[in-house]
Amino acid sequence: MQDVLDKKARDILRANDKGGFTVPTSGLYPYQWNWDSVFVALGFATFDEARACREIETLFEAQWDDGFVPHIIFRRYDPDYFPGPDVWQAGSDIPTSGITQPPVAASIVNTLWSQSDATQIKDRLAALFPGILAWHRWFHNNRVPDDAGAVVITHPWESGRDNSPEWDAPASNIDVSRVQPYERRDLQHADAAMRPTKLDYDRYIALVEFGRSTGWDHALIGKSGPFRVADVGMTMILLRATRDLIDLASKLGRDDALDELEGYLRQLVEGAEFLWDEEAETFCSRDMITGRHSGYLTNASFLHCYAGVGNAQQREKMVGHWDRISAQANFMMPSHDPGDSRFDAMRYWRGPIWIVVNYMLAMGFREQGFDDWAGRILSDSRRLISEHGFNEAFSPVSGDGSGGSDFSWTAAMWLAWCGAANEQ
Ligand code: GLC
Repeated sequence: MQDVLDKKARDILRANDKGGFTVPTSGLYPYQWNWDSVFVALGFATFDEARACREIETLFEAQWDDGFVPHIIFRRYDPDYFPGPDVWQAGSDIPTSGITQPPVAASIVNTLWSQSDATQIKDRLAALFPGILAWHRWFHNNRVPDDAGAVVITHPWESGRDNSPEWDAPASNIDVSRVQPYERRDLQHADAAMRPTKLDYDRYIALVEFGRSTGWDHALIGKSGPFRVADVGMTMILLRATRDLIDLASKLGRDDALDELEGYLRQLVEGAEFLWDEEAETFCSRDMITGRHSGYLTNASFLHCYAGVGNAQQREKMVGHWDRISAQANFMMPSHDPGDSRFDAMRYWRGPIWIVVNYMLAMGFREQGFDDWAGRILSDSRRLISEHGFNEAFSPVSGDGSGGSDFSWTAAMWLAWCGAANEQ
């Protein structure tokens, strides 16, 4: 059984490999996605370290001159995906989208560098350092306002948690009256009950049209866009990535970068505090236009351990949330609070479990001494994949697959983290 699943996971990565980059799944996502690729590199590294390096290198080949790393890289046109390169009109030599995604690269490159014994591989990973540093700098120049310290997203897709209820209120003011007619393609590949609604999609496209109208001027979009939300997931992930980049810089002898990175870290730690909602007693996202917290507990709220933040009182409150949710959910960790009316076990980021988020959660829980939580997350992830397949996401109620199947990052997480081969 074990061998069969390991082989299946490797077959998925090979089948989704389009030559140096991997698509998340065929059909639904036919291009290279930013954080997917970085997680996928962890999977490749279990059987082909050189291919793992290539995956991240191809992502950074699409980096813009100002350090920005796009969320989608459109290497070969595929009419089956909307919005494609003709709609985004971004990037230069390689067409890309105009928004970014959670910066997990520093953390994963640091992991890959530390676990490899091969000088050649270490050198290739070290060569990614300047690009990653430039990307972090881009965030601080464009997306980390001094008065917040947290990372501001300008499109729900930047969060990677595309359809979370956290975006409902901030997105409700987006003007969709001038959106050009379009045809969705995602519904040809996935059940409409699992995907965002028409209104959500209209808002997504309105934001793309707004960004395009500025010529993808990120400073301008960050200051005046119609959707500006300090995202708890992005903030915790960048915070963790900064700690890991500091660690990598020290190992590589890049002491010249340390002051800058320590400064970024201090800002982001303040940013995490900015996202603590006293009323809901949780870390959550916060609308920069209205100043309001979402008030929602999500799987991203629990990334405080991964980021290494939270004082004793905050942690105690999070323990209370964990106890309630873990008693309610058959599988952990739902992307949205099962006790909230917007919870939907099958719809994108409104309930389903993503294994990559579980990987980060388990790492943080283990590091911060919540071993039981880490153990539960790991065994649930293992069961979900072995009993239900390599799905995009999973219902926390039934375990059923949600979204696409034969999914690259789920396969990668099996190989690198939750597959039985990783049992200590
Ligand atoms: C969806 C997810 C996003 C992911 C992409 C490709 O858009 O919300 O996080 O990167 O699919 O898997």
